[in-house]
Amino acid sequence: MTKLWGGRFTKSAEEWVDAFGASIPFDKELVEEDITGSLAHVKMLAACDIITDEEAAAITEGLQKLLNKAEKDELSYSIQNEDIHLNIEKFLTDEVGPVGGKLHTGRSRNDQVATDMHLYLRKHTKDVMALVKQMQEALVEQADKHVETIIPGYTHLQRAQPVSLAHHFMAYFWMLERDYTRLEDSLKRLNISPLGAGALAGTTFPIDRHYTAELLEFDGIYENSLDAVSDRDFIVEFMSASAMIMMHLSRLAEEFILWSSQEFGFIELDDTFATGSSIMPQKKNPDMAELIRGKTGRVYGSLFSLLTLLKGLPLAYNKDMQEDKEGMFDTVTTVKGSVKIFTGMIETMTVNTDVMEKETHSDFSNATELADYLASKGMPFRQAHEVVGKLVLLCIQKGIYLLDLPMDEYKQASELFEEDIYDVLKPSTVVKRRNSAGGTGFEQVKKAIETGREKLKQK
Ligand code: ARG
Repeated sequence: MTKLWGGRFTKSAEEWVDAFGASIPFDKELVEEDITGSLAHVKMLAACDIITDEEAAAITEGLQKLLNKAEKDELSYSIQNEDIHLNIEKFLTDEVGPVGGKLHTGRSRNDQVATDMHLYLRKHTKDVMALVKQMQEALVEQADKHVETIIPGYTHLQRAQPVSLAHHFMAYFWMLERDYTRLEDSLKRLNISPLGAGALAGTTFPIDRHYTAELLEFDGIYENSLDAVSDRDFIVEFMSASAMIMMHLSRLAEEFILWSSQEFGFIELDDTFATGSSIMPQKKNPDMAELIRGKTGRVYGSLFSLLTLLKGLPLAYNKDMQEDKEGMFDTVTTVKGSVKIFTGMIETMTVNTDVMEKETHSDFSNATELADYLASKGMPFRQAHEVVGKLVLLCIQKGIYLLDLPMDEYKQASELFEEDIYDVLKPSTVVKRRNSAGGTGFEQVKKAIETGREKLKQK
């Protein structure tokens, strides 16, 4: 089969080598973007009198037909035509005759592929943002229901201080808020047109890059043609924002996995998001949360392959760059799927408030409160820490908790203790009183939920 670029070749291509070099098996995903870019390019060529209006009309009609066929999945691509760009050009000339060959005037596959990728990622960045917003909404809704639900808060996975469950959910809300704004910010650099940069150096044709940029709804054009065709920063940015999203999801997944274990018993995931065991009839496994935790690895992997791929590449286009696509497609699919599943899990989970309540009464996470109590009555905090530490030890020896320790034991430890400590030590009091800005006190948490809702409204 003759190649579209076959002029200077004396030998015909080998099928097995073609198969190795082809990107069509995966870059067919870019078909819509490719045709959309071509439609803008041909319009510009006619507007700048580089081709005639009749020629442009014929090419446009042909491209429209191909777009319809693509939507119906009726295009049969061939490996011999290497990639989406050459496949479409071949279909076009089959459709409209030699005039189809004028489409590639003043353009190269190098600026073409870059354009396709920009269009593709613009769309999917916006999709991911919308999904992240939905997950934030789910978190705010759960938070709203659980302002006064108290759970043990941990450091080092050891009970530390009790916190409001809403505060815990809102912590993830703010992580996702950063993720959302990171993606939003990346759009500024992403939404720039490389089209018209040519192979690397621009073109002799009197093209109008601003016009194609406008037609494709880009905010501007790359200032430098070499940069335009060799830049893949926008994909690295998307992948790194995605890696961060997955890292956040993976942390919450880990907590859901722990919380739904028999040892914790804090939550039960809805049946939709769990699976059973083929052998153990009692099992209900948090598979979806585990999978999200697992899939985080492949998103990191794609980010690292792209960074490694780009490192050391001389300007401008190099075929290595064809390897930028599969990881990008996979990241889009993985991050979208994961955020969507997570949103569903949050919306439908059952929170076992009674278990949480019981647990917060069965630990020493109110010990700081007792030390603060003594400190607020004038004892140096370091000394208060020591006194309370000894009381905790006494309780452990007796097999009881601080709330169970009788008043005379407290008095023996320090005269500063009064009856009111039994109220101070209640988990709900402990949480309520942590009313510093951004703390877990109920008032603070309610305020944070309001602020969160405001943020969502602005999106
Ligand atoms: N399939 C190629 C890619 O994905 C398109 C650009 C090819 N350009 C070239 N001069 N070989 O990177």
